[in-house]
Amino acid sequence: MKRFLVVNGPNLNLLGKREPHIYGNKSLADLMDAIRVRAGELNVQVEFFQGNGEGEIIDFLQKQAPGSAGIIINPASFAHYSLALFDCLQALAVPTVEVHISNVHAREEFRSKMVTARAARGVIAGLGFTGYLLAMEYLADQPE
Ligand code: DQA
Repeated sequence: MKRFLVVNGPNLNLLGKREPHIYGNKSLADLMDAIRVRAGELNVQVEFFQGNGEGEIIDFLQKQAPGSAGIIINPASFAHYSLALFDCLQALAVPTVEVHISNVHAREEFRSKMVTARAARGVIAGLGFTGYLLAMEYLADQPE
C-alpha cells in the first residue's frame, strides 16, 4: 500500500482559530479526519506531521520520506523563504505536491514569492482543505 506523508508547517496547528475569514473554521484535526477518510477510499496510508520549526520538519522528512510514495506539504510561511526546506525536498526526490489553503497569489505581495514550490510537481492554492485531497488523488494515481 502506498504511504504518503502529510506535512503542515508553522501555525497550522491553529487552524480553526487563526484568521478564520482566511483559513476557515475547521481545525487541523478536522483536516486530518477528512484526509484519513479520502485515504481510506483511495486505499493509501497517510502519516501526519505538523511542526512550527524548520528543523523539525526537515528531520521528519529526512527520516520518513525514504520509501514513501509522495509528500503533501503545506510549508506555510516557509514556502516563501526556506531554502533549507527546498533543498530537503529536492534532495529527497519523492513526488511532492505543495498545498496552500488560501490563494497566496491574491494576498500580500510577499506570499507570491515561492521557493519550496520549485521542488514540487505542482502547487494547489486557494481551494481550502480540498487542495490536500486533490493532491492525494494525484499522488495515488502516479506509477510507483
Ligand atoms: C498558507 C499561506 C502562507 O502564506 C501562510 O504563511 C500560511 C498558510 C496557506 O495554507 O494558505 O501560514 O500556507
